[in-house]
Amino acid sequence: MIVLGIESSCDETGVALYCTERGLLAQALHSQVAMHERYGGVVPELASRDHIRRLLPLTTQVLAQAGITRNGIDAIAYTQGPGLAGALLVGASVANAMAMALERPAIGIHHLEGHLLSPLLASQPPAFPFVALLVSGGHTQLLEVSGVGCYALLGDTLDDAAGEAFDKSAKLMGLGYPGGPAVARLAASGVAGRFKLPRPMLRSGDLDFSFSGLKTAVATLVRKGLDGDQARADLALEVQTAIVDVLVAKSVAAMQARPAGLPRRLVVAGGVSANSYLRQSLAAAQDRHDFQVFFPEPALCTDNGAMIAFAGALRLQAGEQHPVPDDFSVRPRWPLETLTAPAAG
Ligand code: KG4
Ligand code: ZN
Repeated sequence: MIVLGIESSCDETGVALYCTERGLLAQALHSQVAMHERYGGVVPELASRDHIRRLLPLTTQVLAQAGITRNGIDAIAYTQGPGLAGALLVGASVANAMAMALERPAIGIHHLEGHLLSPLLASQPPAFPFVALLVSGGHTQLLEVSGVGCYALLGDTLDDAAGEAFDKSAKLMGLGYPGGPAVARLAASGVAGRFKLPRPMLRSGDLDFSFSGLKTAVATLVRKGLDGDQARADLALEVQTAIVDVLVAKSVAAMQARPAGLPRRLVVAGGVSANSYLRQSLAAAQDRHDFQVFFPEPALCTDNGAMIAFAGALRLQAGEQHPVPDDFSVRPRWPLETLTAPAAG
């Protein structure tokens, strides 16, 4: 079965073809970063218009790459939510219109389910069940994942998400958007010790996070004035270290809280899982605390069409029934915990 996946929830247009027998056949991505950069963040209306411009050419491109025609597509998966309403509508319209024309099923995928399952596309995929650390621009959650659609929340952020903490700190420091990669780049030349930011909730005794205090602390330091390029790099390093310290400590706590007998597997997903310091720190923690950590392929950490095609394929393979659509809707706000396991029809 060949599934076309379409992602358009935010500032990346992603299209991919996933085959249940042969794996990922082709993928294409257009990032809108350059377009939004001058505004310091995503401008929703510009995002929607750009998705309109990119989606069909990218679809033609992946079909050519895979060497198949539109008729070779067996089903179409698209991001139904959560995300920017206008941006979601573009992907959903194209996906459903194609599904109607080709008389194929269309399946609306939860964006975060796409992220959560993306590590399963790696060459050494984790088996269920596992604990997941989901760290994206809008979410920071620890989840118990017992199968496709079976997600129990263990911990959540009380305010800003980890990616948001990177983005807001970067903005305060005058770095570009998105903040995560910009902070990580500058941190590479930073020296530890000059600044000390808070590590919120480290000893809260639960698996929740809070990152808004970090942004306030960065704002205070920036207001006082950063003395030269080295000071900026040192602060970038401390921002990254503070965020990663908290993510690692809470992940280790989640692994230690696992009832005896349950496999000690930690899966990390979402845009922030691209951060190499986070990857290194968790790789070091797994040896110290006796668990195994899994990441998506670096190219599949941030938004992409492959994870959407893959999540759709897993649900369809499990027997979930989806009709040829005659109507559709998007779900800009859609809690992950409301998803259910694929129901065979
Ligand atoms: O998953 P994603 O692409 O989009 C959402 O679903 O939100 O995540 C985007 C987030 C942004 O906050 C971005 O700054 C962060 O992921 N990010 C990173 C890195 N690459 C992307 N954060 C830290 N280090 C990175 N290398
Ligand atoms: Zn995402």
